[in-house]
Amino acid sequence: MQLSPALACLALGLALVSGEGSALHPHQSQAARLVTDFGVKVFRQVAQASKERNVVFSPYGVASVLAMLQLTTAGETQQQIQAAMGFKIDEKDTATALRRLYKELMGPWNKDEISTTDAIFVQRDLKLVPGFMPHFFRLFRTTIKQVDFSEVERARFIINDWVKRHTKGMISNLLGEGAVNQLTRLVLANALYFNGQWKTPFPNSGTHHGLFHKSDGSTVSVPMMTQTNKFNYTEFTTPDGHYYDILELPYHGDTLSMFIAAPYEKEVPLSALTNILDAQLISQWKGNMTRLPRLLVLPKFSLESEVDLRRPLEDLGMTDMFRPNRADFSSLSDQELLYVSQALQKVKIEVNESGTVASSSTAILVSARMAPEEIIMDRPFLFVVRHNPTGTILFLGQVMEP
Ligand SMILES: *[C@@H]1O[C@H](CO)[C@@H](O)[C@H](O)[C@H]1NC(C)=O
Ligand SMILES: *[C@@H]1O[C@H](CO)[C@@H](O)[C@H](O)[C@H]1NC(C)=O
Ligand SMILES: *[C@@H]1O[C@H](CO)[C@@H](O)[C@H](O)[C@H]1NC(C)=O
Repeated sequence: MQLSPALACLALGLALVSGEGSALHPHQSQAARLVTDFGVKVFRQVAQASKERNVVFSPYGVASVLAMLQLTTAGETQQQIQAAMGFKIDEKDTATALRRLYKELMGPWNKDEISTTDAIFVQRDLKLVPGFMPHFFRLFRTTIKQVDFSEVERARFIINDWVKRHTKGMISNLLGEGAVNQLTRLVLANALYFNGQWKTPFPNSGTHHGLFHKSDGSTVSVPMMTQTNKFNYTEFTTPDGHYYDILELPYHGDTLSMFIAAPYEKEVPLSALTNILDAQLISQWKGNMTRLPRLLVLPKFSLESEVDLRRPLEDLGMTDMFRPNRADFSSLSDQELLYVSQALQKVKIEVNESGTVASSSTAILVSARMAPEEIIMDRPFLFVVRHNPTGTILFLGQVMEP
């Protein structure tokens, strides 16, 4: 079975929210499905835009940050986010279900290590809507961190350092130089870290160089790991009739697995799969698996990707939040007009004989609207050049035609 690194990684992000083995309550699995469906929709946009390039993405990370964003927005801006996500974080059942899901993901019964943390950094002197803080805390169990964005480099350091600590050093420079400026008012962030050992490691002696067939028809020689085992395996067809294989690689704690899927024929593009992917399809894969002896040949890989989320989110209908003249952040503060100036995600993953280490960080930066109302001097005007301490007018004139 030949595999594409792109889809393998994607599967990991999904495995994090579709953990099997622990008895999820109906509400919790519902929450997992909502979060996954939304995250996968964003992934599909990202994958379409990046065509033939590797992508590693965290559906859970992007859903976490947008759930927080829902609470800070109002009106049409908020409705667009709720419509795209398919749920309202404010509703009691949803909030409770998401919190339980969060606990389920982080619980000690997972053995393999998962940690996910949310944070909200707010400009120290921004006047918040009364009640925002306790409401936010009730839903996300995270306190608001106050920072002073006018000390640009210090604020950037604080956020990058938070990300670095919560990704165990894997992501160290989330916000590049210039990402934070005097107008930044709010940064919403999620950090996710995963470290899992394969239930059955690949023997080191089985790793040899082999050819990997790229989508453009060329080949590269890469280290391929091999393992003969009884794997959970199934075969599906896409709506347009292409067969594809799906195989499950469990991690040792038995709550997480990596699902790996690829079209059977090399000529069929991976997009035939990415275009139809959603939470339900992945559950159907899992539900149809049978244990079969197979020889698996899987490239060892390590990927890193940085995704600008603006276009993918806009394409899903969340346009107002990016428009300085339309964004509505009045659930957070009505002191200033705010809008989303940047949305990004950085992810790293390393897959080898012993297991997987992966980390992601997602952030949304909200800024004050810079442009005050325009004043356009497109008609005759007067000018005065004045020395202010003394009131002396040095020059004075009128411009009738520049
Ligand atoms: C196969 O799937 C079953 C049912 O989910 C699970 O209990 C088992 O651990 C899986 N085995 C492997 C080798 O993936
Ligand atoms: C098996 O796959 C089919 C679609 O091919 C789906 O309708 C069915 O629900 C799946 N079974 C399980 C148990 O998930
Ligand atoms: C796999 O990667 C992890 C993390 O980088 C490392 O600790 C481990 O030693 C590696 N295992 C092998 C067999 O190379």
